[in-house]
Amino acid sequence: MTKHVLLIIGGGIAAYKSLLLIRELARRGISSQIILTKGGTEFVTALSAGALSGKPVYTDLWELDEQAEMGHIELSRSADMIVVAPATANLMSRAAHGVADDLATTTLLATDKRVLYAPAMNVRMWEASATQRNVETLRQDGALFIGPDVGDMACGEFGAGRMAEPDAIADAVQGALMGDMTLDGLRGDKPLKGRKALVTAGPTREPIDPVRYISNHSSGKQGYAIAQALADQGAEVTLISGPTALPAPQGVTRVDVETAREMLSASESVLPADIFVSVAAVADWRPAKSYDKKAPKPVGKTPALEMAENPDILATICNSDRRPILCIGFAAQTHDVVELARAKRLRKGCDWIVANDVSGDVMGGDKNAVTIVMQKGETQWPQASKSAIARKLAREIAKVFSS
Ligand code: CTP
Repeated sequence: MTKHVLLIIGGGIAAYKSLLLIRELARRGISSQIILTKGGTEFVTALSAGALSGKPVYTDLWELDEQAEMGHIELSRSADMIVVAPATANLMSRAAHGVADDLATTTLLATDKRVLYAPAMNVRMWEASATQRNVETLRQDGALFIGPDVGDMACGEFGAGRMAEPDAIADAVQGALMGDMTLDGLRGDKPLKGRKALVTAGPTREPIDPVRYISNHSSGKQGYAIAQALADQGAEVTLISGPTALPAPQGVTRVDVETAREMLSASESVLPADIFVSVAAVADWRPAKSYDKKAPKPVGKTPALEMAENPDILATICNSDRRPILCIGFAAQTHDVVELARAKRLRKGCDWIVANDVSGDVMGGDKNAVTIVMQKGETQWPQASKSAIARKLAREIAKVFSS
């Protein structure tokens, strides 16, 4: 059965992403009816929102009277759910205080349906105690929240305030409409509270001499997003990171390392832990000898680089007597993705393998398509942003600890 969402687009620069959200929802068989706030019309037009949703777009409280008596009440009741994206500080403040001075707030006050807010604002506005008070009030009234994400913001600052990605919002809407209880995180519950998680991320760097090294293209984005998602679910997360250009996720303890051997010993020092997610692209080999001084170019001959095997961090921890309850590995493959991942799961001794096809532009990119290989079988997740994959994985992990 087709589900209907009432999407309120507030006045923020992230409003353009809400147009993509309409499409993401439609892909999941969910239709959208749009209310564009006055501020929203400064960023996107009713024409584009209407073209994408295939329905008239409402902006004004009074235009509804022509359609039906008590139009705003009808509008809020006919939808299965309300989504506010972007939810600005102002819009949330008015909703929290029961203000009803335009169509969006009147509808929010009149609804008996679930409301999901996707906040988007400057980091200082998000962190302001007034905003946090309003969020808490809305939560207590039963509202769900997704995001904001941490990252670079349109205002040039960095921090929490970016609106969650459209596919992550669409996943949350779909989950909420299906009554998915793993949406605890959206309610502000912390299902992983009291759990300790270890995440490795990024590449390792294996020195040849002080200026040269062997490494790979891993950006660390997927591992950092997983560390963030686990922390958002309440876990106490330590992120052991190889060299990346990324800032530490909020509320996560980050330990920087360079080589595979450093990564192993830093990881072991975090144990015992409940959860281990091994996302790092660890170099399997290192130069057998690394020079203290820059090695000169040998004249007239090609140097041979003798290699030594690095420890397998995932296998070592999975087979240790301090093995975390849930160990998850990643398998970056360019071919026979699932088949090789199945074998890898057994070889490394982990519980799940997240297999991803890296033959395209996954490494360094923002999207990923994965298959989760478990003992009982495989589940394929469609292509999504790395943060959406991370949230979904964190929810799967939370299920293990809540059952
Ligand atoms: N891994 C690890 N330590 C290593 C190599 C890999 O902890 N020395 C972990 C990775 O973090 C990932 C998983 O093992 O979770 C699989 O990594 P991958 O590089 O795909 O596997 P390899 O063991 O290197 O196998 P192959 O290169 O033959 O596919």
